Amino acid sequence: MKRKFNKIAVFTSGGDAPGMNACVRAVVRYGIRQNLKVYGIINGYEGMINGEIVEIESHEVGNIIRLGGTIIKSARSKEFRTEKGMKAAFNNLKNAKIDGVVAIGGDGTFKGANEFSNKFNIPFIGVPATIDNDIFGSDFAIGYDSAINTVVHAVDKIRDTAEAHNRLFIVEVMGRDAGFIALRSGIAVGAEAVLIPEMDTHIDSLVSLLEKGWKRKKSGCVVIVAEGDEAGGAFEIANKVGQSITDYEIRVSILGHMQRGGSPSCMDRVLATRLGVAAVEALIKGKSSQMVGVINNAVRFTPFERSVKHHKTLNKDLLKLTQILS
Ligand code: F6P
Repeated sequence: MKRKFNKIAVFTSGGDAPGMNACVRAVVRYGIRQNLKVYGIINGYEGMINGEIVEIESHEVGNIIRLGGTIIKSARSKEFRTEKGMKAAFNNLKNAKIDGVVAIGGDGTFKGANEFSNKFNIPFIGVPATIDNDIFGSDFAIGYDSAINTVVHAVDKIRDTAEAHNRLFIVEVMGRDAGFIALRSGIAVGAEAVLIPEMDTHIDSLVSLLEKGWKRKKSGCVVIVAEGDEAGGAFEIANKVGQSITDYEIRVSILGHMQRGGSPSCMDRVLATRLGVAAVEALIKGKSSQMVGVINNAVRFTPFERSVKHHKTLNKDLLKLTQILS
C-alpha cells in the first residue's frame, strides 16, 4: 500500500563528490514541485543522530548545481553503526515527521541505510555518489566524471615536465579499493602503464616495458597508480622501479584530495539531476531500500542488499588498451 508523503529528507554521506549539490538541488526542487516539504540532514548520519534536520526552501538551492563539496556537509559516522546511534536517529526522524529519506553517498552509506530501513519503518532510496565509481548497480557514480577530468588536466601538465626532462613520473590517484579512476584517466592521458588493485602488479614487467620505451626514444613516461595498489603507493613503486631504471630520472606526484573538489562536470550535473528526481519519484511510488543508478544510460533500481554485497567489475578490455598503445 502506498503511504502518504508529506515530508522527505536528504543527506550526503561518506567522501564528498562533485555533483552532490546538483543532486540535493534536484531532490529539493522536485520534492517541492510534488507538494512535499524537503529537509536537509546536516553532516550525514551524525546529523541524523544529533537531530540536525532543517527545512530547505527552493531558493536556498539556487545556483548550487555548479558547486563542488556539499552544502549540507558530509561525514563518516561510527556511532550510526551502533544500536544506540540508530535508535537516536530514528527518534529524530520520527519527531520531525519525515516520511522518506534520500541518501546520497557510497557503499558505506547504503550499508547503513539498508540496516536502518530493515529495522525501522522509514523508506530510504540511495543515490550513488563517490569519485571512486565502485558501486554495483550503476555504470557511473556522481563525482567520477569530474574527478577523472581533474586527473587528466593535472597529468597533462605533468607530462610537459616529463617530456622536457626525460623523466618518469609515477602519479598516484585516489582509489583505496578500486582502480576505476586510474584506469579511465590512464587511457585518457596515454599513460605508459596503469597499476590497479584489481590486477597483480609485477615490477619486473613494468621495468622491462619502460626500458623498451626508452629504446623506442620515448622522452618521458607516466605511470598511473591507484592508491590501493598491492605493490604500494607511488613512493614505494618509484623506489622499486628506481633500483633497475637508470635512463629516466624518476619523480613522484600524488594528486590527493584535489580530485574530490571543484565544480562538477556537465556529465555529473546531468547524472545527479536525473538520479535526484528519480529518487524522489521512487519514494512517492512506495519504493524503499533500493539504490537508483544508470545502466546503459537508463535509470535502473538495485536493492541495497545486492548493491552492497556485489563488487562492481572493472572492464579489463580497457586495461588492455593501455598495454597495446603504451
Ligand atoms: O571518496 C573516496 C576516497 O576518495 C578514496 O579513494 C580515498 O581513499 C578516500 O576517499 C580518502 O578519504 P578521506 O581521506 O577524505 O577520508
